Amino acid sequence: MGSRDVTPVKLGVLHDEYQQSAEWLKSQTKHRPQVAIICGSGLGMLADALKCQDSFPYADIPGFPQSTVQGHAGRLVFGELKGKTCVCMQGRFHMYEGHSLGKTTFPVRVFKLLGVETLIVTNAAGSVADGLRPGDIMLIKDHVNFPGLVGLNPLSGPNDDKFGPRFPAMSGCYDKGLRSLALDIAKQMGVADLMREGVYAMVGGPTFETIAEARLLHRLGVDAVGMSTAPEVVIATHCGLRVFGLSLITNKVVKSYEDPDSVDHQGVLEVGRQRSHTLQQLVTQLVARMEINNNIGGSRDNTL
Ligand code: HPA
Repeated sequence: MGSRDVTPVKLGVLHDEYQQSAEWLKSQTKHRPQVAIICGSGLGMLADALKCQDSFPYADIPGFPQSTVQGHAGRLVFGELKGKTCVCMQGRFHMYEGHSLGKTTFPVRVFKLLGVETLIVTNAAGSVADGLRPGDIMLIKDHVNFPGLVGLNPLSGPNDDKFGPRFPAMSGCYDKGLRSLALDIAKQMGVADLMREGVYAMVGGPTFETIAEARLLHRLGVDAVGMSTAPEVVIATHCGLRVFGLSLITNKVVKSYEDPDSVDHQGVLEVGRQRSHTLQQLVTQLVARMEINNNIGGSRDNTL
């Protein structure tokens, strides 16, 4: 062995692994989804509206990690929703579960290989902004990817050019047209008073914020905080998917030393249950009315 030999280190996930997963799914279902929906904590019921379902536990799908969080079922559901073919993740993967960011975002690239054009991400989040109340629905207009800012980015490591460029732009990664369509739908549903638009910040978790951390987020202009979403959106934007995101506000983050409140996961799940019907209607109408195949994202269209 010469001194210039390097030990082959496996960095990230190989293209073949995404491909194998996508091929396996194609062999198991006739559905060819155009839209993918990631259901956040307590929001798995979004998949219930799908017709002609084919579902697969994550444990059966090559390459998929396992979801370990209560409130996340851990299966992929394919089906029809208002004339569009969808795939729904009931349960997502989080960094705090110990998954690598490659594994956390694995399904998104599999969706791209399955032909998905639009990704809908949902999450449960704590309100940082004073005007946001538990039960409100925040359309995500932008994010702060705290883990990403310190180098925990799912695109770290060698770039897979088949998916997208080395240095992808992230400005405008939450589609404006879909946000304004969602607002129109909310007005028609009579729930416009629940809707807000704002900035979501991802923190690593699994701890909820200290008061000092909550105050810091507030001063930075963050509206809502959670422990997911940003890595999936980074990977989706990199490979040219159109992204729509919403946060269900499940609790207030505690920003005052005088406030006796504290957050707990059961409370987060309970607000999800209370808003399940509204969220399901909103997402269903959005899928029904969104246009497909309209050369989304222009220059982002890097077909594989
Ligand atoms: N902080 C972080 N993540 C969360 C919260 C919160 O207050 N609520 C739901 N997910």
